Amino acid sequence: MRGKTVIVTGANSGIGKATAAAIVKLQGRVIMACRNQARAEEAARDIRQETGADGGQEEPRLDVLINNAGVYQCPYTRTEDGFEMQFGVNHLGHFLLTNLLLDLLKRSAPSRIVVVSSKLYKHGDINFEDLNSEQFYDKAFAYSRSKLANLLFTCELACRLEGSGVTVNALTPGIVRTNLGRHVHIPVLAKPLFNLLSWGLFKSPEDGAQTSVYLASCPDVDGVQGKCFADCKPLDLLGKATNQEVASKLWDISEVMVGITT
Ligand SMILES: NC(=O)c1ccc[n+]([C@@H]2O[C@H](COP(=O)([O-])OP(=O)(O)OC[C@H]3O[C@@H](n4cnc5c(N)ncnc54)[C@H](OP(=O)(O)O)[C@@H]3O)[C@@H](O)[C@H]2O)c1
Repeated sequence: MRGKTVIVTGANSGIGKATAAAIVKLQGRVIMACRNQARAEEAARDIRQETGADGGQEEPRLDVLINNAGVYQCPYTRTEDGFEMQFGVNHLGHFLLTNLLLDLLKRSAPSRIVVVSSKLYKHGDINFEDLNSEQFYDKAFAYSRSKLANLLFTCELACRLEGSGVTVNALTPGIVRTNLGRHVHIPVLAKPLFNLLSWGLFKSPEDGAQTSVYLASCPDVDGVQGKCFADCKPLDLLGKATNQEVASKLWDISEVMVGITT
C-alpha cells in the first residue's frame, strides 16, 4: 500500500481502528474519518506508536475509501439532519460521503471502495413507505435494514462504476469484540459471563479487520466488482441484497434524502 491514500470512517474504534493500523503497517497513508477529534487523535497516537509512522496526511489522491463507521441497535434517535440514526449513519452518511469523493476516486483509478455490512442484513427489508421509521421503530430491524442498504448501495454503485477503474465490494466481518454493543443492555450480573464468552467466541478487532484490509489492498481482487466477502472469500447473498430494481430505487431516494442531484 506504499504511496496509497486510504480513508477509513469510524477509524477510532474497533474494526476501523484495526483496519487503519493494518494499512499503516502495509505502508499506506490513512485518513481517519471520525466524528470526535479527541477520540480520533487518541487512536492516531496509538497507531503511530504501534507502527512508527509519521502524521503527514495531505494527498491530492484517494486510492481506497472504507465505509466502516456504524451504530448498532440504538434507541430511536435522529441525526442532525433528521434521519433515523441507524439508517442515517450506516447508509445515508456513507452514501453521501462516497458520492462526494467519487470524482477524486475516479481521478485516482485504479481505486477501491469497501463497504462494511453485516450478515444481519438477512433480517432487514427496504420498506420504502417508512425509511425514516416515523410510523414504527424496531431497533434490530432498523440495523438490519441499514446493513441491507449497504449491500444494495454496493450493487447499484458497482453498475454505475463499470469501466471507471473504481471498484466497490462489501464485506461482513463476523462477530467482533468492539464497542458496537454499547447500546445493548446486559444485566450487571450477566456481564462477567458475557465478557468471558466474548473473549472466547468473538473475533479480535484485528481478525475482524482482515476482510476490510484484504479488499483494500490485495491484488487478488483487482477488478472484482460488486461482490460481498466474508473471511476473505466471496459470499453468496440472498436475492433481496442483489435486487437491481430495489437497489436503483433506493439510490434515487437516497439522493433526494441527502440533497444531491446528478
Ligand atoms: N462488531 C461486530 O460484531 C460487527 C458485526 C458485523 C458488522 N459490523 C460492522 O462493522 C463496522 C464497525 O463497527 P465496530 O464493530 O468496529 O464498532 P465500534 O467499535 O463501535 O466502532 C464504530 C465506529 O463508528 C463510529 N460512529 C458511530 N456512530 C457514528 C456517527 N453518528 N457518526 C460518525 N461515526 C459514528 C464510531 O465513532 P465513536 O467512537 O465516535 O462513536 C466508531 O468509530 C460497523 O459498520 C458495524 O455495523 C460489526
